[in-house]
Amino acid sequence: MADHTQATSAGVTTTTRSRPWLSGAIPVLLLLLSLVTLPPECSAFCPSKCQCLGGEANSRALCVDAALEDVPIQLNPETKYINLTVNRIRNLEFSLPFYMKLEILDLSQNIIETLGSKNFEYQSELRTLNLSRNLVSSLHKHAFKGLTNLLLLDLSFNRIETVHPTALSDLASLVELDLTNNNIVSLEDNSFKGMSTLEVLVFRNNRLLDVPASNLWHLHALKSLDMSLNLVEFVRNDSFEGLKELLALSLQGNVMSELDLSAFEGLISLKHLDLADNNLTMVPTQQLSKLSNLTYLNLGGNRFSQLPAVAFLNLFHLRELHLSRLDYLQRIDSR
Ligand SMILES: *[C@@H]1O[C@H](CO)[C@@H](O)[C@H](O)[C@H]1NC(C)=O
Ligand SMILES: *[C@@H]1O[C@H](CO)[C@@H](O)[C@H](O)[C@H]1NC(C)=O
Ligand SMILES: *[C@@H]1O[C@H](CO)[C@@H](O)[C@H](O)[C@H]1NC(C)=O
Ligand SMILES: *[C@@H]1O[C@H](CO)[C@@H](O)[C@H](O)[C@H]1NC(C)=O
Ligand SMILES: *[C@@H]1O[C@H](CO)[C@@H](O)[C@H](O)[C@H]1NC(C)=O
Repeated sequence: MADHTQATSAGVTTTTRSRPWLSGAIPVLLLLLSLVTLPPECSAFCPSKCQCLGGEANSRALCVDAALEDVPIQLNPETKYINLTVNRIRNLEFSLPFYMKLEILDLSQNIIETLGSKNFEYQSELRTLNLSRNLVSSLHKHAFKGLTNLLLLDLSFNRIETVHPTALSDLASLVELDLTNNNIVSLEDNSFKGMSTLEVLVFRNNRLLDVPASNLWHLHALKSLDMSLNLVEFVRNDSFEGLKELLALSLQGNVMSELDLSAFEGLISLKHLDLADNNLTMVPTQQLSKLSNLTYLNLGGNRFSQLPAVAFLNLFHLRELHLSRLDYLQRIDSR
């Protein structure tokens, strides 16, 4: 194409064939026509508040803090990266099917209330999806349908209360799931079924009343589980059974007053355990004694009145033991 016309009245900059005999309102019409008739290499547009970078092979769009209310649909359909953080986007309907090559999508800090159903159906290449700091309150049955290659999903700082039991089941490649700061009280059985590649699960600051044991059972590859700042009072026998790869577990900041004797059964790889800021009145000696590979243990901020002589039986690899803020401590048996 030899000549260039700026069609800025439509809020976009584009390339069209120049028609000197046309003027006035015609450029808008021309723009619409060109959408239909231009060959593929000319069909990409960059909204005025976005920055579009890279060539065909590595097309990227940055639309950060651009006051957008919708996902722009006129970007290069080959785009692999779209950053829409800090906008006013409310819903995702009918916009994403245009971008089938998308690998990274940042939708954090918008006002999305629902992810709807099947809105990611064509994003089989997507690796990273950031939905942090939106207003999502539930995850519907087909919310993530199509995201079979997604590795990282950030849903932190939303208002999620309900998760449909099959909402996450399409995420067969997921490695990291962040649910920090939501309102989840419990999960239905089999909610994590099929997530056999998940390595990092963050449930920090929700309202879980129990360890979701029957769900964790499916996460055979899990390496790190953060359930800090929830409302767990009691950990039942075998709650973490099946998590043979788990290296780090945090239950910090719950309201646990007791642990069943086999609460930590099966955590054969565990190295890092944080039980700080709970309501434990006795050192859980027997429960800990099976964690023979533990190197870090935090029991600070509990309500122990005494530390018996053999409180830490069998913990031969322990390198760091935190016992600060034991406000109820009266006696240490140092035999
Ligand atoms: C999107 O842009 C923001 C602001 O520049 C940046 O902090 C963030 O890392 C970007 N997101 C991704 C996924 O690259
Ligand atoms: C997602 O976006 C939020 C806010 O923009 C940011 O703090 C967070 O680090 C991002 N998550 C990931 C996994 O990059
Ligand atoms: C938990 O397991 C221990 C054996 O390790 C058993 O003595 C105890 O009764 C079990 N607790 C419950 C509630 O089943
Ligand atoms: C401790 O870790 C080693 C490898 O570092 C492993 O072979 C062993 O099985 C672990 N111990 C237990 C009790 O599983
Ligand atoms: C846990 O301890 C706090 C004070 O630290 C107390 O207010 C609360 O009632 C206790 N909760 C349970 C379930 O024991």
